[in-house]
Amino acid sequence: MELSIIVPTFNEGGNVAELVRRIGSSLDGEDFEIVFVDDSTDDTPSIITSVAASAQVPVRLIHRDAPDGGLSGAVLEGFRSAQARWCLVMDGDLQHPPEDIPRMLERARRGDVDVVVASRYVAGGTAGGLAGATRTAVSRTSTVLTKAMFPRKLHGCTDPMTGFFLVDRDSIDIESLHPRGFKILLEILARRQMRIGEVPFAFATRYAGESKASFTQGIRFLTQLAMLRFGRMSAFALVGGVGAIANLVIMWGLIRLGMEYLPAAIIASEVTIIGNFLLLEYLVFSDMRADSGLMRTRFIKSFVFNNVEAVVRISVLPLLVQGAHIPSVLAAAITLAAAFVVRFVYHALWVYAPKRVAAAAVTREPAVITAASRTLDS
Ligand code: GDD
Ligand code: MN
Repeated sequence: MELSIIVPTFNEGGNVAELVRRIGSSLDGEDFEIVFVDDSTDDTPSIITSVAASAQVPVRLIHRDAPDGGLSGAVLEGFRSAQARWCLVMDGDLQHPPEDIPRMLERARRGDVDVVVASRYVAGGTAGGLAGATRTAVSRTSTVLTKAMFPRKLHGCTDPMTGFFLVDRDSIDIESLHPRGFKILLEILARRQMRIGEVPFAFATRYAGESKASFTQGIRFLTQLAMLRFGRMSAFALVGGVGAIANLVIMWGLIRLGMEYLPAAIIASEVTIIGNFLLLEYLVFSDMRADSGLMRTRFIKSFVFNNVEAVVRISVLPLLVQGAHIPSVLAAAITLAAAFVVRFVYHALWVYAPKRVAAAAVTREPAVITAASRTLDS
């Protein structure tokens, strides 16, 4: 088999038959399979099964009962089960025209690239199907921002946010990718230097159903950028910074409502501790949650730690100021910096420690891949 077409689906029943039909007529004579990786909550799986039964081409369904990593997680699942080395990823709503696949294959067959990106932003491509001016502006701005953050790795790519691409599975280390949100191509391109080829395509309007893009996906994307560019610690710092500001704002608000400053400070701190925990859960450590046991246990560990930490930090302060004669603001800065590092290490290594060893810990050529999968774009 030469090609595996991976289609992530979430409630796309109305698109399945038409998608399979158009792929079939575009790829006449090719040796390929279609793999639907489905997280639907409706009848999409049974529609896929019945389309598969009558299709002229091999169609497989992987339905995930416990979806992990959303759209990106589904694509990784598709890579793992693909029969072919070359994997084509496309949406299930026909915004990615199957008629463009032959040109992508042709580009890959020249043999000089690891990935072929179908781009809306290269000469000949269009983003016409993006819903509305706001969505287009967001897409344009985030593309520029992303390219600026990875100037080298994304040098040959005008559309790192596209969900339509063809990749040589042997050129990526699947288990090193962190599935979060919608932008799996960015994850692949930012991890290691890939040889990129591009073909233009016209982003179409949806055939049936509705988009699953949301504000939350936007926030996920920003966290993904921070994590890829500066590592998990910076995303953690970002959440800590937001928490510190929220803490002060809440305290200020409570005092204005007539509360004494001490109870106001305590309430503000506890609210922030809980809020920070949720941000860590859903943004910073979202990719590690599935393997690290119960959320309740993590919450208790995190909550107790933060309270103990606050008490310790405040008691150490007088020791530094009176004992070691360090100026009070500097002393506070030292304790905060130390607490930050300890808090990060504690959360990364203990709160979110994997309870079970990742199922597919087998990677090809681990030494080579480890060396190549740096987070820095150097
Ligand atoms: N398995 C699975 N799990 N599939 C999902 C999930 C999920 O949680 N969420 C969305 N999908 C599927 C949808 O069913 C669809 O086939 C595809 O992923 C894209 O989702 P849309 O809801 O159509 O997203 P979009 O059109 O707003 O976004 C597309 O275009 C963007 C570029 O503007 C995607 O291709 C993005 O990756 C791309 O960045
Ligand atoms: Mn879509």
